Amino acid sequence: MTQKSKVAVIGLGNIGTAIATNLVKGNRTVIVADKTFEKANKLSQKLGNLAQPVEISAAVKEAEIIVLAIWFEGIKEFFKTYATELDGKIIVDPSNPIAPDEKGGFKKIIEKDRSAGELLSALLPKGAKFAKALGTLGAASLENAAFRQPEKAVEFYATDDTSINAQIEELIRDNGFDPVRIGNLDQSIRIEVFGDLHEFGALGKTVTLNEVKNVAEPA
Ligand SMILES: NC(=O)c1ccc[n+]([C@@H]2O[C@H](COP(=O)([O-])OP(=O)(O)OC[C@H]3O[C@@H](n4cnc5c(N)ncnc54)[C@H](OP(=O)(O)O)[C@@H]3O)[C@@H](O)[C@H]2O)c1
Repeated sequence: MTQKSKVAVIGLGNIGTAIATNLVKGNRTVIVADKTFEKANKLSQKLGNLAQPVEISAAVKEAEIIVLAIWFEGIKEFFKTYATELDGKIIVDPSNPIAPDEKGGFKKIIEKDRSAGELLSALLPKGAKFAKALGTLGAASLENAAFRQPEKAVEFYATDDTSINAQIEELIRDNGFDPVRIGNLDQSIRIEVFGDLHEFGALGKTVTLNEVKNVAEPA
Protein backbone atom coordinates (compact mmCIF):
# COMPACT_ATOMS: atom_id res chain seq x y z
CA MET A 1 0.00 0.00 0.00
CA THR A 2 1.35 3.46 -0.83
CA GLN A 3 1.93 5.85 2.04
CA LYS A 4 -0.76 8.50 2.45
CA SER A 5 0.23 12.18 2.25
CA LYS A 6 0.82 13.85 5.60
CA VAL A 7 -2.08 16.18 6.29
CA ALA A 8 -2.30 19.15 8.63
CA VAL A 9 -5.42 21.01 9.69
CA ILE A 10 -4.63 24.60 10.63
CA GLY A 11 -7.42 26.48 12.43
CA LEU A 12 -9.36 24.37 14.92
CA GLY A 13 -12.75 26.06 15.09
CA ASN A 14 -16.02 24.56 13.82
CA ILE A 15 -14.70 23.28 10.50
CA GLY A 16 -11.13 22.42 11.48
CA THR A 17 -12.27 20.43 14.50
CA ALA A 18 -14.84 18.52 12.42
CA ILE A 19 -12.23 17.71 9.74
CA ALA A 20 -9.59 16.57 12.25
CA THR A 21 -12.18 14.48 14.11
CA ASN A 22 -13.37 12.86 10.87
CA LEU A 23 -9.81 12.02 9.82
CA VAL A 24 -9.14 10.30 13.13
CA LYS A 25 -12.41 8.37 12.74
CA GLY A 26 -11.17 7.47 9.27
CA ASN A 27 -8.00 6.11 10.91
CA ARG A 28 -5.76 8.76 9.37
CA THR A 29 -2.99 10.57 11.17
CA VAL A 30 -3.54 14.34 11.30
CA ILE A 31 -1.32 17.20 12.39
CA VAL A 32 -3.33 19.88 14.19
CA ALA A 33 -2.38 23.52 14.77
CA ASP A 34 -4.03 26.78 15.75
CA LYS A 35 -2.80 30.19 16.88
CA THR A 36 -1.85 28.66 20.21
CA PHE A 37 -0.29 25.26 20.86
CA GLU A 38 -2.64 24.85 23.84
CA LYS A 39 -5.68 24.76 21.58
CA ALA A 40 -4.12 22.10 19.35
CA ASN A 41 -2.96 20.11 22.36
CA LYS A 42 -6.43 20.16 23.90
CA LEU A 43 -8.00 18.80 20.73
CA SER A 44 -5.35 16.11 20.34
CA GLN A 45 -5.92 14.93 23.91
CA LYS A 46 -9.56 14.47 23.01
CA LEU A 47 -8.85 12.72 19.68
CA GLY A 48 -5.98 10.47 20.77
CA ASN A 49 -2.65 9.44 19.27
CA LEU A 50 -3.58 9.93 15.62
CA ALA A 51 -3.87 13.70 16.18
CA GLN A 52 -0.47 15.35 16.59
CA PRO A 53 -0.43 18.91 18.00
CA VAL A 54 2.34 21.21 16.75
CA GLU A 55 3.04 24.92 16.28
CA ILE A 56 1.82 26.41 12.97
CA SER A 57 5.32 26.72 11.50
CA ALA A 58 6.00 23.02 12.19
CA ALA A 59 2.64 22.04 10.65
CA VAL A 60 3.51 23.92 7.47
CA LYS A 61 6.93 22.31 7.34
CA GLU A 62 5.85 18.72 8.06
CA ALA A 63 2.62 18.40 6.08
CA GLU A 64 2.20 17.75 2.37
CA ILE A 65 -1.48 18.70 2.44
CA ILE A 66 -2.51 21.75 4.49
CA VAL A 67 -6.19 22.34 5.19
CA LEU A 68 -6.54 26.04 6.00
CA ALA A 69 -9.70 26.02 8.13
CA ILE A 70 -9.57 29.76 8.77
CA TRP A 71 -11.46 32.73 7.35
CA PHE A 72 -10.97 34.08 3.81
CA GLU A 73 -9.02 37.20 4.86
CA GLY A 74 -6.89 35.09 7.20
CA ILE A 75 -5.90 32.80 4.34
CA LYS A 76 -4.66 35.79 2.33
CA GLU A 77 -2.45 36.78 5.28
CA PHE A 78 -1.32 33.19 5.74
CA PHE A 79 -0.13 33.05 2.12
CA LYS A 80 2.00 36.15 2.72
CA THR A 81 3.44 34.96 6.04
CA TYR A 82 4.36 31.47 4.81
CA ALA A 83 5.02 32.26 1.14
CA THR A 84 8.38 30.47 1.02
CA GLU A 85 7.42 27.51 3.20
CA LEU A 86 4.29 26.74 1.15
CA ASP A 87 6.31 25.97 -1.98
CA GLY A 88 5.39 22.42 -3.06
CA LYS A 89 2.48 22.07 -0.60
CA ILE A 90 -1.12 21.26 -1.45
CA ILE A 91 -3.44 23.87 0.06
CA VAL A 92 -7.03 22.85 0.74
CA ASP A 93 -9.36 25.83 1.06
CA PRO A 94 -12.80 25.34 2.68
CA SER A 95 -13.41 29.11 3.06
CA ASN A 96 -16.53 31.02 2.23
CA PRO A 97 -16.13 34.73 1.48
CA ILE A 98 -18.76 35.88 3.97
CA ALA A 99 -19.11 38.02 7.10
CA PRO A 100 -22.02 38.67 9.49
CA ASP A 101 -24.56 41.19 8.17
CA GLU A 102 -26.67 43.62 10.20
CA LYS A 103 -29.70 41.29 10.24
CA GLY A 104 -28.09 38.35 12.03
CA GLY A 105 -27.32 36.55 8.76
CA PHE A 106 -24.31 36.54 6.44
CA LYS A 107 -23.33 38.65 3.45
CA LYS A 108 -20.80 38.03 0.72
CA ILE A 109 -17.67 40.16 1.14
CA ILE A 110 -16.40 39.86 -2.43
CA GLU A 111 -18.10 40.71 -5.73
CA LYS A 112 -21.27 38.71 -6.34
CA ASP A 113 -19.91 36.79 -9.32
CA ARG A 114 -16.49 36.01 -7.81
CA SER A 115 -15.42 33.08 -5.64
CA ALA A 116 -12.96 32.71 -2.77
CA GLY A 117 -11.41 29.79 -4.65
CA GLU A 118 -10.55 31.87 -7.73
CA LEU A 119 -9.34 34.87 -5.75
CA LEU A 120 -7.17 32.85 -3.37
CA SER A 121 -5.67 30.71 -6.11
CA ALA A 122 -4.55 33.92 -7.83
CA LEU A 123 -2.62 34.81 -4.66
CA LEU A 124 -1.12 31.37 -4.21
CA PRO A 125 2.56 31.31 -3.18
CA LYS A 126 4.96 30.10 -5.86
CA GLY A 127 5.08 26.30 -6.19
CA ALA A 128 1.98 25.66 -4.06
CA LYS A 129 -1.00 23.67 -5.37
CA PHE A 130 -4.57 24.50 -4.56
CA ALA A 131 -7.97 22.82 -4.19
CA LYS A 132 -11.30 24.17 -3.07
CA ALA A 133 -12.69 21.41 -0.84
CA LEU A 134 -14.28 20.46 2.48
CA GLY A 135 -16.30 23.68 2.71
CA THR A 136 -19.34 22.69 0.73
CA LEU A 137 -21.29 21.53 3.81
CA GLY A 138 -21.96 23.38 7.06
CA ALA A 139 -19.98 22.32 10.12
CA ALA A 140 -22.92 20.36 11.55
CA SER A 141 -23.28 18.19 8.44
CA LEU A 142 -19.53 17.82 8.11
CA GLU A 143 -19.67 16.26 11.55
CA ASN A 144 -23.00 14.43 11.48
CA ALA A 145 -23.13 13.19 7.88
CA ALA A 146 -19.59 11.76 7.86
CA PHE A 147 -19.30 7.99 7.24
CA ARG A 148 -23.05 7.77 6.67
CA GLN A 149 -24.47 4.32 5.89
CA PRO A 150 -25.63 2.79 3.62
CA GLU A 151 -24.85 5.64 1.21
CA LYS A 152 -22.22 8.25 1.94
CA ALA A 153 -22.89 11.94 1.43
CA VAL A 154 -20.96 13.80 -1.27
CA GLU A 155 -18.34 16.53 -0.79
CA PHE A 156 -17.74 18.47 -4.01
CA TYR A 157 -14.30 19.86 -4.83
CA ALA A 158 -12.72 21.98 -7.54
CA THR A 159 -9.13 22.32 -8.73
CA ASP A 160 -7.26 23.48 -11.81
CA ASP A 161 -4.45 21.03 -11.10
CA THR A 162 -5.69 17.53 -11.85
CA SER A 163 -2.37 16.03 -10.67
CA ILE A 164 -3.65 16.41 -7.08
CA ASN A 165 -7.10 14.87 -7.68
CA ALA A 166 -6.14 11.52 -6.12
CA GLN A 167 -4.79 13.12 -2.93
CA ILE A 168 -7.83 15.37 -2.54
CA GLU A 169 -10.21 12.48 -3.13
CA GLU A 170 -8.38 10.33 -0.58
CA LEU A 171 -8.63 13.20 1.92
CA ILE A 172 -12.38 13.53 1.32
CA ARG A 173 -12.89 9.75 1.59
CA ASP A 174 -10.92 9.67 4.84
CA ASN A 175 -13.29 12.38 6.08
CA GLY A 176 -16.19 9.98 5.49
CA PHE A 177 -17.58 11.42 2.24
CA ASP A 178 -17.69 10.51 -1.45
CA PRO A 179 -15.64 13.01 -3.48
CA VAL A 180 -17.02 14.58 -6.66
CA ARG A 181 -14.85 16.93 -8.72
CA ILE A 182 -17.09 19.62 -10.08
CA GLY A 183 -14.42 21.03 -12.40
CA ASN A 184 -11.80 23.75 -12.43
CA LEU A 185 -11.68 26.65 -10.01
CA ASP A 186 -13.96 28.68 -12.27
CA GLN A 187 -16.65 26.36 -10.84
CA SER A 188 -15.68 27.15 -7.24
CA ILE A 189 -18.53 29.63 -6.84
CA ARG A 190 -20.98 26.75 -7.20
CA ILE A 191 -19.64 24.97 -4.10
CA GLU A 192 -19.27 28.06 -1.88
CA VAL A 193 -22.03 29.50 0.32
CA PHE A 194 -24.98 30.78 -1.81
CA GLY A 195 -23.82 28.55 -4.69
CA ASP A 196 -26.12 26.05 -6.38
CA LEU A 197 -24.15 23.10 -4.94
CA HIS A 198 -23.66 24.36 -1.39
CA GLU A 199 -25.68 23.17 1.57
CA PHE A 200 -26.31 26.85 2.43
CA GLY A 201 -27.17 27.71 -1.16
CA ALA A 202 -29.65 26.44 -3.71
CA LEU A 203 -28.82 22.79 -2.94
CA GLY A 204 -29.87 23.18 0.69
CA LYS A 205 -29.04 19.62 1.73
CA THR A 206 -26.51 16.81 1.51
CA VAL A 207 -26.65 14.56 -1.55
CA THR A 208 -25.42 11.05 -2.35
CA LEU A 209 -23.55 9.93 -5.48
CA ASN A 210 -26.82 8.54 -6.83
CA GLU A 211 -28.46 11.93 -6.43
CA VAL A 212 -25.57 13.92 -7.90
CA LYS A 213 -26.55 13.28 -11.50
CA ASN A 214 -29.78 15.15 -10.82
CA VAL A 215 -28.01 18.26 -9.54
CA ALA A 216 -24.58 18.46 -11.18
CA GLU A 217 -22.52 17.52 -14.21
CA PRO A 218 -19.25 16.44 -12.57
CA ALA A 219 -16.03 17.06 -14.52
N1 LIG B 1 -18.79 27.09 10.06
C1 LIG B 1 -19.30 26.53 8.95
O1 LIG B 1 -20.42 25.96 8.93
C2 LIG B 1 -18.49 26.59 7.68
C3 LIG B 1 -18.92 25.84 6.57
C4 LIG B 1 -18.14 25.80 5.41
C5 LIG B 1 -16.96 26.55 5.36
N2 LIG B 1 -16.58 27.30 6.43
C6 LIG B 1 -15.34 28.06 6.32
O2 LIG B 1 -14.34 27.43 7.12
C7 LIG B 1 -13.46 28.42 7.65
C8 LIG B 1 -13.42 28.27 9.17
O3 LIG B 1 -14.75 28.49 9.66
P1 LIG B 1 -15.11 28.12 11.17
O4 LIG B 1 -16.56 28.27 11.32
O5 LIG B 1 -14.44 26.85 11.53
O6 LIG B 1 -14.36 29.34 11.92
P2 LIG B 1 -13.98 29.44 13.46
O7 LIG B 1 -14.86 28.57 14.27
O8 LIG B 1 -13.87 30.90 13.76
O9 LIG B 1 -12.52 28.78 13.52
C9 LIG B 1 -11.37 29.37 12.98
C10 LIG B 1 -10.20 28.91 13.84
O10 LIG B 1 -8.97 29.27 13.21
C11 LIG B 1 -8.17 30.01 14.13
N3 LIG B 1 -7.32 30.89 13.34
C12 LIG B 1 -7.62 32.07 12.78
N4 LIG B 1 -6.56 32.54 12.08
C13 LIG B 1 -5.58 31.61 12.20
C14 LIG B 1 -4.25 31.53 11.70
N5 LIG B 1 -3.71 32.47 10.94
N6 LIG B 1 -3.54 30.44 12.00
C15 LIG B 1 -4.06 29.44 12.77
N7 LIG B 1 -5.31 29.47 13.28
C16 LIG B 1 -6.06 30.55 12.99
C17 LIG B 1 -9.17 30.72 15.00
O11 LIG B 1 -8.58 31.16 16.22
P3 LIG B 1 -9.26 32.45 16.95
O12 LIG B 1 -10.66 32.06 17.29
O13 LIG B 1 -8.39 32.64 18.14
O14 LIG B 1 -9.21 33.57 15.96
C18 LIG B 1 -10.19 29.60 15.22
O15 LIG B 1 -9.74 28.67 16.19
C19 LIG B 1 -13.99 29.78 7.18
O16 LIG B 1 -13.28 30.18 6.04
C20 LIG B 1 -15.44 29.49 6.81
O17 LIG B 1 -15.93 30.34 5.80
C21 LIG B 1 -17.31 27.33 7.59
